[in-house]
Amino acid sequence: MKVEIRQQFGTSTGVVLIPVAKQGDFKDIITLVASKTGLSDSLINEEFKGDLKETASFFFKDGSQTHRLILLGLGENPGFKEMLQSFRSLVFRNKEKFPKGITLDLEHSNTGAPYQLLEAAVNGMVLGPYDTGKFKTEQNGNKVPEWEDFTLELIIAGTSGGEENELKQAVRKGQIIAEAQWQMMDLVNAPANKKPPQHLAAWAIESGRKHGYDVKVYELKELQEMGMEALIAVNRGSEHPPVLIVMEYKPAGTPVKKVGLVGKGVTFDTGGLSLKPSGNMHYMKSDMGGAAAVMGAMEAASRLQLPVHLIGVVPSTENSVDANSTKPGDVIGSYSGKTIEVIDTDAEGRLILADALNYVAKNYQPDFLLDLATLTGSCIRTLGTHAGGLFSNNEALAKTLYEIGMETGERLWQLPIWEDYQKEMNSDVADIKNLSSSPAAGAITAAKFLEFFIEKHPAWAHMDIAGVAFGDSEFSKQKSATGFGVRLLVEFLEKA
Ligand code: BES
Ligand code: MN
Ligand code: ZN
Repeated sequence: MKVEIRQQFGTSTGVVLIPVAKQGDFKDIITLVASKTGLSDSLINEEFKGDLKETASFFFKDGSQTHRLILLGLGENPGFKEMLQSFRSLVFRNKEKFPKGITLDLEHSNTGAPYQLLEAAVNGMVLGPYDTGKFKTEQNGNKVPEWEDFTLELIIAGTSGGEENELKQAVRKGQIIAEAQWQMMDLVNAPANKKPPQHLAAWAIESGRKHGYDVKVYELKELQEMGMEALIAVNRGSEHPPVLIVMEYKPAGTPVKKVGLVGKGVTFDTGGLSLKPSGNMHYMKSDMGGAAAVMGAMEAASRLQLPVHLIGVVPSTENSVDANSTKPGDVIGSYSGKTIEVIDTDAEGRLILADALNYVAKNYQPDFLLDLATLTGSCIRTLGTHAGGLFSNNEALAKTLYEIGMETGERLWQLPIWEDYQKEMNSDVADIKNLSSSPAAGAITAAKFLEFFIEKHPAWAHMDIAGVAFGDSEFSKQKSATGFGVRLLVEFLEKA
C-alpha cells in the first residue's frame, strides 16, 4: 500500500472517504460536503444519518475534474471493531468496482482517534474481498489480494515527520494483521479433508521460512518417544497421524519478555466414540480456531518484529471414530506423567492441551502462558457469541487481557476457577478425569482440568473461544471463521 499525505481537502485518487461517527449532528462534515457539492445541508442530512455501515455517495468538482465523496457511517460511539466492520463491509459490497486508490479524510472525520481509525480502516479494507467460496471452481482460490499498487492518500493537517511515520506504521500493522487473519480464516473455513494436521504443519513451516521464525514439527514417532500420550490417545481413531507444531520467534535485540502460546488444533471433532449428533457436526471443522489464533499471531508478531521471545505450540489431530479409538473409561498417560481417566472422548481438546501446556511450561518457562481453544459448548451457553471465556490464576494478567479485549472488540469475560470446582474432576481410578461429575459449569471445570497440567505456572490464562471463533456474518450464509484472537494476541504481545 502506497501511503501519501496531504494537508488540505482534495484528492489525487478521485475518491474521498469521510468516516462519520453518529455523534451530535456532525454539522462540520455536513457543511464541508455542502460546500463541495453545492447541495443543501438539509438534503445531505436526509441522505445520511451516520448509522453503522451506512454510506452516502456524492460528486464534487475540482477544476475540470469530477471526484467522488463518500460518507461512511460508523454508528454511535464506534470502537475499533465498528470502524473495522464498516470498512470491511464497504469494500465487500463494492469489491467488483473498488478503485486503485482512495483518499481517507482523517482531518474532517469526527472520530478523534486518527491512528486507531487508520489501522482499523486498513484492517477492514484488506479483509473486504474475503470470500468463503474458496473451493468454487470459478473463484481460483480467492487469494490474499496484493495491495502494492494501491494508493492510500490521507488528509491530515500539520503532521510532523514522526507523525507521518506513525501513520505509516498504523497502515502496516493494519495490513499485516489482516493478512494473518485472512489466512487463518481460510484454514478455519477449510473442510477437514483439506486440512489434516500435516497441512497445518506445512503452513507453519512455510510461514516461518518466509517471515524468519523457527518451526519444528514433531511427528508420531517422536511424539511417542517424548511421551505425548494424551495427544496420541485422541489421535487413535484417525487415519492422519498427529503433529506437535513448535514455533519460535526471537527478536533481534534483547526480548522484553518470553510468552508461550498454545492453541487447540483439532482439525475435526466427531466426538470420537462419545459421538456428537450429526445436525451441526460439519461445524466441527472449526475446532482448530485456537491453533489459528496462535499461528496467525506468530506470523504477525514476527512480521511486526515485536520485541518479545515467542513460543507458539499447536497440538493437532482429528478426533475420529475407529476400532482403535480411545474408549470411554480408558486410562491414559500424558506428557506430564499424570494419568487421566477418559470418561468422555468428546472432551478431547483438554487432553491435547494438557500435553502441550505441560510441554511449554516445562521446557520454556515463559513469563506468560496463554492458551486458546474452542473448548466447550458450556462457554457458548454462558456467554453466547459476544465474548470468549477468560480463566486465569493471575489477576493482573486477566485484567490486561480483559482490557485488550474491550479495546479491540475481541471481548473476553472472566469466569472463576475456585478450588471448589477441582473436586468435580477427581477420578476414582486415575489422577484426574476429563469430564466433571456435574453437568454444571462445564467451561470452568474444563479450565480446572487444564490448570492441573501447567506446573503451577504463576501467570497462565486460558481463553475458551468456542462461541467467537466461528459465527454468523454478513459474508456467508452458513457460519464462518471470524479470525478471533489474532489481533487480541498481537496487542497483548505489544503491551504486556
Ligand atoms: N469442540 C468441542 C466444543 C465446541 C462445541 C466448540 C460447540 C464449538 C462449538 C469440544 O471438544 C467438546 O466437544 N466439548 C464438549 C465437552 C463435554 C463432553 C464435557 C461439550 O462442550 O459438549
Ligand atoms: Mn469434543
Ligand atoms: Zn473439540
